[in-house]
Amino acid sequence: MKVAVVGATGMVGEVMLKVLAERNFPVTELIPVASERSVGKTVTYKGTDYKVVGLETAVSMRPDIALFSAGGDTSLEWAPKFAEAGTTVVDNSSAWRMDPSKKLVVPEINANELTKDDKIIANPNCSTIQLVMALAPLHKKYNMKRVVVSTYQSVSGTGIKAVKQLENEIAGVEGEMAYPYPIGRNALPHCDVFLENGYTKEEMKLAKEPQKILNDSSFSVSATAVRIPTAGGHSESVNVQFENDFDLADIRKILSETPGVVVQDNTETNSYPMPIYAHDKDEVFVGRIRRDESQANTLNMWIVADNLRKGAATNTIQIAEYLIENKLV
Ligand SMILES: NC(=O)c1ccc[n+]([C@@H]2O[C@H](COP(=O)([O-])OP(=O)(O)OC[C@H]3O[C@@H](n4cnc5c(N)ncnc54)[C@H](OP(=O)(O)O)[C@@H]3O)[C@@H](O)[C@H]2O)c1
Repeated sequence: MKVAVVGATGMVGEVMLKVLAERNFPVTELIPVASERSVGKTVTYKGTDYKVVGLETAVSMRPDIALFSAGGDTSLEWAPKFAEAGTTVVDNSSAWRMDPSKKLVVPEINANELTKDDKIIANPNCSTIQLVMALAPLHKKYNMKRVVVSTYQSVSGTGIKAVKQLENEIAGVEGEMAYPYPIGRNALPHCDVFLENGYTKEEMKLAKEPQKILNDSSFSVSATAVRIPTAGGHSESVNVQFENDFDLADIRKILSETPGVVVQDNTETNSYPMPIYAHDKDEVFVGRIRRDESQANTLNMWIVADNLRKGAATNTIQIAEYLIENKLV
């Protein structure tokens, strides 16, 4: 496969190269792509240096697959150009996610919807992916009605500039700000931009994307997204109201048997998911599983995953692997 990685110099792009190598993705030719600022710079893949090219050059090289993580505007403008050149695009930005003509895919849940005609495929938002990985198998059995989620999101979710801001603050150095306020020793109830309804765009992604992925609008999601000074992954406090009563042991069993989900839940040994341990792992970790004692048929849990891996690079590459395995590309 001739593979273009668009945004190869960014946080997600860098992890993308690492995950492609780790999973031995069948790359016969790698095309790292970034903005004009980076053309000529090198990135390393499997010990070899590759020169970064611009978007125009990359399209003319007609890759089989292009893995995009270069922001929504780049995707809106360039994904169709790649698709017209015969390339299948898997896009990490929010550009195509809610477009009814595009599939929004978490491979463990709905990769079977993909066909050869899908030339631009959307990767869900990082905080959505870890949420639906845990919700989908529970919904199947107990039928959820309403989800209330509060996120505790890593600065790595904002990109290189935000990680640098936190590092500068820790080192006591003045520098460029990714956020309107300091992030060290702080919590910002502000992920992505504010919308007219008072929610942020990140919160509305959490509200809308799960319904599309599960192809089911019979449940609703209410979200509050908060940025905190962690780097290893996003955490989520999740309250789920089901239509049917559940057995807590069965909830644990279902989650334990779900591919890609790891249950870490033992209060006697202080075992629960945390971003520093989820860091650099592909699994979604679930713990603090307990009944909401204030309301019937309702569950509380804590979900953590590395936003750059399952939340972005790994999920994208799993989609590409599915396309290859099923001869859809
Ligand atoms: N971070 C996450 O957890 C996460 C998770 C899921 C999805 N995403 C999405 O993935 C995308 C990238 O996120 P990130 O965190 O990796 O950001 P980042 O660290 O800021 O990197 C952005 C990348 O995009 C490239 N780029 C920017 N403008 C471009 C342009 N006009 N043409 C070509 N390339 C351009 C940059 O190239 P230069 O180095 O040349 O500027 C860089 O490689 C965003 O759409 C984001 O929403 C991020």
